[in-house]
Amino acid sequence: MNLTLNNGVTMPAIGLGVFQTPPEATTEAVAAALKTGYRHIDTAAAYGNEREVGEGIRRSGVDRSEIFIETKVWISDYGYEETLHAFEKSAAKLGVEQLDLFILHQPLSTAFEKTIAAYTALEKLLADGSVRAIGVSNFMPKHLLKLREQTTVVPAVNQVELHPYFTQPEVQQANAQMGILTQAWSPIGGITSYRGDNARTTFNDPAILAIAGEHGKSAAQVMLRWQLQLGHSVIPKSVRPERIAENFDVFDFELTQAQMEALAALDTGVRGGPDPDAITLEAFGRPIPEA
Ligand SMILES: NC(=O)c1ccc[n+]([C@@H]2O[C@H](COP(=O)([O-])OP(=O)(O)OC[C@H]3O[C@@H](n4cnc5c(N)ncnc54)[C@H](OP(=O)(O)O)[C@@H]3O)[C@@H](O)[C@H]2O)c1
Repeated sequence: MNLTLNNGVTMPAIGLGVFQTPPEATTEAVAAALKTGYRHIDTAAAYGNEREVGEGIRRSGVDRSEIFIETKVWISDYGYEETLHAFEKSAAKLGVEQLDLFILHQPLSTAFEKTIAAYTALEKLLADGSVRAIGVSNFMPKHLLKLREQTTVVPAVNQVELHPYFTQPEVQQANAQMGILTQAWSPIGGITSYRGDNARTTFNDPAILAIAGEHGKSAAQVMLRWQLQLGHSVIPKSVRPERIAENFDVFDFELTQAQMEALAALDTGVRGGPDPDAITLEAFGRPIPEA
């Protein structure tokens, strides 16, 4: 299933996420995903595994042109020249000439001028054909508005935390109004289980499991289907081939309107990840190695 971005480029709705996938497991996870049928991988300079993503793609035997590669610039590389160089680093590590989607990993609220300079570099990369689409991540509506006032190209995607426990309706709405595709990170609520010691997670949630039972599907499959029916892109992460396959097997059932609403009603309003305004160079900056 493909989604069409605001510049006409098509992107497979489901991608494999590789945040926290150790480099040594990344090549195999990517190869397993491509074998399953995935044609979209989401990585980031900050994940430290772009090289292994590239290796997994080459080893898969699937032609580069069939695979949608998305990666992210880390905040330490924000600035016009710095971000142009960040493209060179990511492309070289991935072993590709062109990226399909290049996005800013975070807004830098305390140094927004650097965020603007970085985005201006993405616009240049788009104009010269180095990237096929550009976007942002973790941008709240106020960040999107500020960005739109000072730059030209509407981001193609805004990748944000989004699962049944944290649905960010105001972000979904702002994205839709501006023609930006919502891409869900932690789309199955992984962050509700791997961060903190929550007894209740999206995977053991009784309401989600009840809906899963009605379709003979898993909780993860129900959450992914919910996102797809909302029109979102999803990038579930797993290092296990059986789960990688499970997370792709979501096209043979349909949630009812009542089930869609029941899932949205699980929103707690509490994010699992950091508040985007808490991301500063002082606290989160760290050098991204050269290729
Ligand atoms: N832009 C950002 O700031 C940002 C932040 C976080 C994540 N992301 C992106 O979003 C991707 C996904 O987010 P995420 O990794 O936070 O969370 P997620 O995909 O919602 O969940 C991943 C977690 O769930 C487990 N899992 C995967 N499939 C499962 C299944 N079918 N049943 C039960 N458990 C399952 C995984 O463990 P196993 O690997 O052991 O299967 C892992 O612990 C990341 O990999 C990254 O690409 C972006």
